[in-house]
Amino acid sequence: MNIIVAVDKNWGIGDKDNMPWSIPEDMKFFKDMTINKTVVMGRITFLSFPKQLPLKNRQNIILTRDENFSVEGAIVVNGVKSLIEFVKDINEDDVFIIGGQSIYQTFEKYCKKAYITKIDYEYEVDTYFPNLDLLDHWEISKIHDIKHTKDGIPFTVYEYINTQI
Ligand SMILES: NC(=O)c1ccc[n+]([C@@H]2O[C@H](COP(=O)([O-])OP(=O)(O)OC[C@H]3O[C@@H](n4cnc5c(N)ncnc54)[C@H](OP(=O)(O)O)[C@@H]3O)[C@@H](O)[C@H]2O)c1
Repeated sequence: MNIIVAVDKNWGIGDKDNMPWSIPEDMKFFKDMTINKTVVMGRITFLSFPKQLPLKNRQNIILTRDENFSVEGAIVVNGVKSLIEFVKDINEDDVFIIGGQSIYQTFEKYCKKAYITKIDYEYEVDTYFPNLDLLDHWEISKIHDIKHTKDGIPFTVYEYINTQI
């Protein structure tokens, strides 16, 4: 499995159940990476999507403990074990953990690769991604070119490898 996430200077990822920023170029990177693949998300991240619709052209899996929750066009699973069971027949490179905080924290250890867009700015945030630079099992494997938002804020994709998998 892979992780894909955008973080600010302090590894912040969200505020009040939404993303604190909008960076079209990074959204395109997210789309290019996940198109025709499987994306796994928590219920709160799913509900933040426009019109609360699953992402197009991807197999959407939503985690919730609510056994009555259902969404047309998405698969709903109620726990870590069910998720692992569900994805075991899918090529591991084709599964992306896409957030939010609780899902990243739970599944980080199961992921081989992480695509982290680091945004060089401090936003107001209330949710975080684990700082991979403080975890011994994650190593940077590639750094993409620096780009800039329309406001001139630099951002760069870092690829990390989990050396324990
Ligand atoms: N910067 C980025 O790249 C990025 C990406 C994605 C999300 N985000 C941000 O992250 C924030 C949301 O993070 P969050 O932690 O509050 O919410 P979340 O992880 O998106 O969803 C949390 C929900 O997922 C379900 N869940 C979590 N663990 C589960 C488990 N083990 N088994 C079954 N269900 C489980 C629960 O749903 P129930 O309550 O229904 O049981 C839980 O309330 C938002 O601000 C969002 O915008 C940022």
